[in-house]
Amino acid sequence: MGKFLSISWFLVLLRHTAICTAFRHVRRYDTLNYSLNLLHESMDWMDMFYDADAGYLYSLDAAALTHETRSSVWYASGLLARNEGDDAEQAIKIIQNVISGQHKNVSSQWFGDYQIYPEEPTVGTEQYPPKIYNSWDPNWRGFVGTTFVLMLEEFPELIPYDVQEYMLESLYNTSIGDSYRVGGVNDDNLYPAYSNPSIMRAFVTGWVGRRLNESNMTAAGEKDAKDVIALFTRANTLSEFNSGTYAGVSLYALTLWAKYMPGTSLMGQHGASMIKYTWTSLASLYNANLRNVAGPWDRSYGYDMNRYLSILALHMWTLIGKEKAPINAKPYAMGHKNDFAIGPLVAILAPFHNSLIDNSTLNSLISFPGTHTVETSAFSPPYDTYPRNITAWLSPHLTIGAESFSENVIGGPAKNPNSFNPAVVQWQRQDGSVGWLTLYAQVMELIAVAGEKTLNLTYPTGNSTSTFSFLVGTNSKAGKRDVSSWDDVEGVKVKVIGTVGPEYAVTFNGLVGGAGEPINEFEFWNFTYTMSAGSAEIPQVLLEFELI
Ligand SMILES: *[C@@H]1O[C@H](CO)[C@@H](O)[C@H](O)[C@H]1NC(C)=O
Ligand SMILES: *[C@@H]1O[C@H](CO)[C@@H](O)[C@H](O)[C@H]1NC(C)=O
Ligand SMILES: *[C@@H]1O[C@H](CO)[C@@H](O)[C@H](O)[C@H]1NC(C)=O
Ligand SMILES: *[C@@H]1O[C@H](CO)[C@@H](O)[C@H](O)[C@H]1NC(C)=O
Ligand SMILES: *[C@@H]1O[C@H](CO)[C@@H](O)[C@H](O)[C@H]1NC(C)=O
Ligand SMILES: *[C@@H]1O[C@H](CO)[C@@H](O)[C@H](O)[C@H]1NC(C)=O
Ligand SMILES: *[C@@H]1O[C@H](CO)[C@@H](O)[C@H](O)[C@H]1NC(C)=O
Ligand SMILES: *[C@@H]1O[C@H](CO)[C@@H](O)[C@H](O)[C@H]1NC(C)=O
Ligand SMILES: *[C@@H]1O[C@H](CO)[C@@H](O)[C@H](O)[C@H]1NC(C)=O
Ligand SMILES: *[C@@H]1O[C@H](CO)[C@@H](O)[C@H](O)[C@H]1NC(C)=O
Repeated sequence: MGKFLSISWFLVLLRHTAICTAFRHVRRYDTLNYSLNLLHESMDWMDMFYDADAGYLYSLDAAALTHETRSSVWYASGLLARNEGDDAEQAIKIIQNVISGQHKNVSSQWFGDYQIYPEEPTVGTEQYPPKIYNSWDPNWRGFVGTTFVLMLEEFPELIPYDVQEYMLESLYNTSIGDSYRVGGVNDDNLYPAYSNPSIMRAFVTGWVGRRLNESNMTAAGEKDAKDVIALFTRANTLSEFNSGTYAGVSLYALTLWAKYMPGTSLMGQHGASMIKYTWTSLASLYNANLRNVAGPWDRSYGYDMNRYLSILALHMWTLIGKEKAPINAKPYAMGHKNDFAIGPLVAILAPFHNSLIDNSTLNSLISFPGTHTVETSAFSPPYDTYPRNITAWLSPHLTIGAESFSENVIGGPAKNPNSFNPAVVQWQRQDGSVGWLTLYAQVMELIAVAGEKTLNLTYPTGNSTSTFSFLVGTNSKAGKRDVSSWDDVEGVKVKVIGTVGPEYAVTFNGLVGGAGEPINEFEFWNFTYTMSAGSAEIPQVLLEFELI
């Protein structure tokens, strides 16, 4: 930063002190302003990781004092929103650092993307091969790019002019780089059905196009948006359906559509209604007694929202308060805790986003409306041969949700059996904690129907080698530590019938022992059913549940 910058910086401060303290001057500990609570709690936590000398956050995983890019940028947005002391100055420092580390080779597939961490070797060298979603992550363009736009929209007074120009150059490059992404090409998977990054890409590209008069970018943003919208309006559902983590990201990105895109853009036209429909769907599947969204979950990083930090729960925090939302008093002790770093973005947008949520949706998040069923569908071409049919049965203390599908991959479009949960059961136990069961994804085709107290699963193209593995959560603190049959599972009686053999194996995946590792930081009991040797029947299993 040269002298010129410091002077302009000073003038900027002088000119705008009055108007840029929106978040500061409202009583900081105003317990009734849930958005402010989230802003300050997430910032207080990240403050502990901030390395002012480096102008980056340390790794939230405490990886030997390395730093990380994405959470630093999210933190910077919170610094601008908080704007106390030298917050804004630190934010500017972070922004400049991150842009200086942006990939600059226009011929590389990762052009315009942002580093995962500043200490990383140069991506694409012999020793550091370019491995998508590993040594570079194409979605960082969207996560960082949307954050830059949000900063430019919300806090321009706090950002010196030349830094704004630098951010625009960065956003221009990131939009060019994002245009290299084509699902199915070069290991990329950015199809319109990959909801969260496709919504972000449409937004950043379209916003940059308008801002810089790059009509091609404006048009590309509209084209992407059109594809996303067409897929959405089929059943008014996100393709990346009902994911505690990614529905939260999609809602964030749709809020950018609704808030910052003009009415001449498809994004400006559809953003608000897509947010409303998404919440209607989420609310229909939410059980406020269990504080969980019923299954199925296309991509989940945990099995009980009370125990892992979901971005959806951060939105809920701003809507109904931390106490009622599925958030532990100590969010940073939950599974997948690093997503707490997106808190400032959710908080900054909450006043606008929350104005779109109607009362009946809000009420469903606070109290369970009564036993009901849900039928809907979601579609993720080119992985699905037909839309996934979704059924759910929700009662006050027991919910069952499942989806039928026929795909060309195992583990859903993300090809990740650890996060694809096509059939899920949850129940409330005596102590108020939540028991859960999920079918481990092992097949490309499943017929799954949730009914009253039942879950019916069939592998239409299975054979005698097929197995059904049910991962079951550990009992409550007061419950049995050891589980060797359904009788040992707390809070529910399970009856299993079907074409599977009557015997089943039970193994344990624990933190430090057992048959294998936990999944998504959750320990579990693995109940596995096999077919009788040489069976010619279609693999099918019916589970009946009774609360006890
Ligand atoms: C919470 O504070 C923010 C920032 O000052 C403000 O925009 C919002 O309107 C407040 N919300 C409520 C519910 O008071
Ligand atoms: C830029 O990327 C292209 C394509 O990967 C590569 O051939 C070229 O060597 C790179 N240039 C530099 C300066 O690294
Ligand atoms: C943008 O990309 C160009 C190459 O096309 C590069 O020269 C420039 O430094 C990049 N800008 C930033 C901010 O990374
Ligand atoms: C974009 O075009 C508008 C209207 O033609 C003009 O006012 C604006 O200065 C232009 N912006 C840039 C960055 O070229
Ligand atoms: C814009 O797109 C058109 C049509 O695809 C192309 O011919 C033109 O070169 C592009 N312009 C820029 C500046 O990229
Ligand atoms: C929504 O609820 C609020 C507070 O309970 C109430 O003031 C408002 O009138 C309700 N709005 C509608 C449309 O029912
Ligand atoms: C999915 O639902 C549609 C509409 O009810 C139905 O036509 C189709 O057969 C169903 N497919 C499966 C595999 O359940
Ligand atoms: C379970 O599904 C199978 C195959 O789809 C079907 O034949 C059977 O009738 C279903 N059972 C119940 C109780 O719905
Ligand atoms: C059963 O299905 C599996 C997976 O599709 C296949 O590899 C295997 O050959 C099949 N076995 C029999 C006995 O058909
Ligand atoms: C569950 O247990 C079976 C053996 O009983 C094993 O083959 C399978 O890999 C286990 N699944 C997981 C997710 O650990």
